[in-house]
Amino acid sequence: MALTLGIVGGGQLARMMIAPAVELGIDVRVLAEEPGMSAQIAATATGDYRDLETVRAFAQDVDVVTFDHEHVPQHVLRALVAEGIAVHPGPDALQYAQDKLVMRARLAELGMPQPEWAEITDAAGLQAFLDSHGGRAVIKTPRGGYDGKGVRVVSTPEDAADWLADGTPLLVEELVDFTRELAQQVARRPSGQIVTYPVVETVQRGGVCAEVIAPAPHATGRLAEVAAQIGEAISEGLGVTGMLAVELFETADERILVNELAMRPHNSGHWGQDGAITGQFEQHVRAVLDLPLGDPGIRQPWSVMVNILGGPAADTLESRLPAALTAHPSAKVHTYGKAPRPGRKVGHVNAAGDDLDAVVYEARSAAACFGD
Ligand SMILES: Nc1ncnc2c1ncn2[C@@H]1O[C@H](COP(=O)(O)OP(=O)(O)OP(=O)(O)O)[C@@H](O)[C@H]1O
Ligand SMILES: [Mg+2]
Repeated sequence: MALTLGIVGGGQLARMMIAPAVELGIDVRVLAEEPGMSAQIAATATGDYRDLETVRAFAQDVDVVTFDHEHVPQHVLRALVAEGIAVHPGPDALQYAQDKLVMRARLAELGMPQPEWAEITDAAGLQAFLDSHGGRAVIKTPRGGYDGKGVRVVSTPEDAADWLADGTPLLVEELVDFTRELAQQVARRPSGQIVTYPVVETVQRGGVCAEVIAPAPHATGRLAEVAAQIGEAISEGLGVTGMLAVELFETADERILVNELAMRPHNSGHWGQDGAITGQFEQHVRAVLDLPLGDPGIRQPWSVMVNILGGPAADTLESRLPAALTAHPSAKVHTYGKAPRPGRKVGHVNAAGDDLDAVVYEARSAAACFGD
């Protein structure tokens, strides 16, 4: 009988796990938040992932429960595990992706390089941190942030007044003067096998990932080695199963610092669908089902991914598709079946080849076919 993968969350990450699962002969079921979501191309139930009964009923008919996002509450995850249901990544690992304060404290215990940070609960605490860090800092809501929401640069406690008002602890970090952002992906099976992807460069605009270049240009062997070691140490140290993405800052003096973690396929790994021997979506499916992992190596010297964000244009991605495919036959267009609201990630383009400038041009110009 075919293995069945259960994915909680109906977004594009779930959607993109489906095609490689089908190719491996694995059935997929999705628990989506509402009807009509991106991943509804597989058998889909609809319900609230915060409700134990809903998730428990969904989990009955699957071989493993995995996720499109990290927001399933701990008590729900732990109840499933207590009943003997395979949940990957499990609650012990996921807590570090659910709360940035918990993550910072644990990474400190593991000796990982990271920005200076503190937990603050009031204006005095923030002022003290600002005073000892050059008068500017980054504050973050520990839970629920995404695409830069929940991240703010501040120079006075007044800048944080609204977030401090409700008394929940905040994470404050030094404002890192990074030269660029990198991401390191690692896949790990419950039985322990682990593989690392090449470190990539990520470019964010307005707090949202815009482009990714794989491997990271000008990455020395030493940099790539250190990034891979950090990824492996975190995956093993936190007991992560499935894909882990470690977002990193590179500084002018070639230090790398951990920004944050994602325990699922991640935007920084979309390039691998077309540019890696085993892309992250296939790898996540293999890893959570404890199947042997695939080769994470590159197919071409360079891969570039450019996100397609929804704009004010009323027409749909589908109406632009024929022209884009005609003009860019070597680009790979991936669309998510989502309504194109402004700023919303609705698709991406991958390109790959020998010449980085040509690959960047190809990916950007193909993605631009969907812009305004
Ligand atoms: N300490 C810092 N110093 C400088 N810039 C930072 C710092 N922390 C975050 N940033 C910037 O803000 C962006 C978003 O921060 P972070 O990754 O913590 O938030 P997020 O909203 O959870 O992210 P994501 O978009 O990955 O879901 C980072 O990619 C980086 O560009
Ligand atoms: Mg981030």
